[in-house]
Amino acid sequence: MTDLRTDLGEAVATAFAAEGVDASLARVTTSDRPDLADFQSNGALAAAKALKANPRDLATRVASRLESDQRLSSVEVAGPGFINLKVSDAALASRAQAVANDAAHAGASGVGSPRKVVIDYAGPNVAKPMHVGHLRSSIIGESLKRLFRFRGDTVWGDAHFGDWGFQMGLLIVAVGDEGKADPFLSEGDGPFPADSPVTLDDLERLYPQAAARAKEDVAFRDRARKATAELQAGRPGYRALWAHFVAVSRTALEREFGALGVTFDLWNGESDADPVMAEMIAHLETTGLLVEDAGARVVHVAKPGETRKKKLPDGTVIEAPSPPPLLVISSEGSAMYGTTDLATILDRRKAIDPDLILYVVDERQAEHFEQVFRAAYLAGYAPAGSLDHLGFGTMNGPDGKPFKTRAGGVLKLHDLITMAVDKARERLREAKLGDDLPPAEFEATAHQVAVAALKFADLSNSRTTSYVFDLDRFMSFEGKTGPYLLYQAVRIKSLLRKGADQGATPGPIVIAEPAERDLALTLDAFAQAVTEAYDKRMPHVVAEHAYRLAQAFSKFYAACPVLIAPDAATVASRLALAKAALDQLESALDLLGIESPERM
Ligand code: ARG
Repeated sequence: MTDLRTDLGEAVATAFAAEGVDASLARVTTSDRPDLADFQSNGALAAAKALKANPRDLATRVASRLESDQRLSSVEVAGPGFINLKVSDAALASRAQAVANDAAHAGASGVGSPRKVVIDYAGPNVAKPMHVGHLRSSIIGESLKRLFRFRGDTVWGDAHFGDWGFQMGLLIVAVGDEGKADPFLSEGDGPFPADSPVTLDDLERLYPQAAARAKEDVAFRDRARKATAELQAGRPGYRALWAHFVAVSRTALEREFGALGVTFDLWNGESDADPVMAEMIAHLETTGLLVEDAGARVVHVAKPGETRKKKLPDGTVIEAPSPPPLLVISSEGSAMYGTTDLATILDRRKAIDPDLILYVVDERQAEHFEQVFRAAYLAGYAPAGSLDHLGFGTMNGPDGKPFKTRAGGVLKLHDLITMAVDKARERLREAKLGDDLPPAEFEATAHQVAVAALKFADLSNSRTTSYVFDLDRFMSFEGKTGPYLLYQAVRIKSLLRKGADQGATPGPIVIAEPAERDLALTLDAFAQAVTEAYDKRMPHVVAEHAYRLAQAFSKFYAACPVLIAPDAATVASRLALAKAALDQLESALDLLGIESPERM
């Protein structure tokens, strides 16, 4: 099914071609003067320039070819040669009907050839508390996963759990020093205790202490590095202890992500690439990509001449390769963050053979991914162009710096959700919403409002920009917010329930009033919004559409009585329009990872 804008674009292209003009110039866009037209094409201006013709004359000739098009009620040439198109009420009604009938996709189209796509997002770490970067990654990644799946791709969302780096060695040493893990410290083959010697609280308390101590205490740091290398080399007691850390962290994380409506198809960790590590190192060696560098082993990824100025500790400035080489094996013999990322690409290639891997990770890791991707292409682990880092800006506090709690610490996801739900309850009570709901349903609604507020606030910004965390604004039932969208969805649900109670059901759509036209045009625009969000990998385009749709519905509802419309056919048509608006709004919200309540 195609949308009107695409259909009309084809008609205009045919008319351009008939005038001997390059049809690719015939682009049709939504009119920027909705009072004059629904769509416009500015192509005659560029085309006339190329043909050295008068743009207005060319536009007039193209327009006269379009006049017989049944879908158009008027075709006019404006200004120096803009072609203004107004769609007939009948064409709008038939398109709105098609959207209404399309329960699965609300008028959006699928991709021509579905791909296998891995989306690597959230990236939480064992024991390290999650920060706002992980929150943004979870929200954006979840939305992209849904968007790609919605268009027909086969998608694996992978949490890429950080479970293999230096923090693991730090924890082994710290837990060992507390005397909590004696049986695991033996160098033997086990068996080792099946119960975890630590709780999540232990891990969360010990990790920051150990990380801080390693910065000052060289001996401690060296022990942690050694433990990391021994863990990776397979020391059985360390592996058994580590498996407890991973399990304890993952259980807690899954609960927190679940509360946010974020779920993964794969909970693979950095460690899951370990089995292909030896093979990868051997391959990098034989291809000559892995080279010695001051006791470590690296892959050079910069091309000759790609350099930048670098200041050495002694103050001298040199021309260093840019991006810097990828560190594969540290001087202690450990795999690094980049090593596991490279091995994971190889592992995914063997397990899934994806056409595309998207990494939804903080923009500040751009150089890391540049290094890893280049190394993967050099090694032949991924087809050219199949790896893409989707960076994002930070969520800032009022001071413009990455958001922290009042106590100055990083905000824990669990605390953030609790705080948002508290605020949602308060707002619902102020607005006298949900006061007749049973307590459990009120709680569930407050939770949905909280999640909608957090996610929509994030996703309504282009992912590349940073934004300021302002819970009061996010949680408002007015303006461009998640709660406003839920409120509109609930209004439509209640209208449809009332209609059903009165025996009124949706029927054939007829378009007559300006507010009906506007709603139908907005329903038509969803397809383009979904395609654009998909192509650009930018969920805010869907967020923007959801907001416009809610507004178009609100105006329609104010201008066009539904259940007390003058005749039964109009009641049925308006109910169908309302139902189509609800279905599309829920589709859009679902793409953003947002659920709406039945009532409030
Ligand atoms: N665990 C990492 C961090 O906390 C993020 C992982 C991102 N994904 C990846 N494949 N490197 O910074």
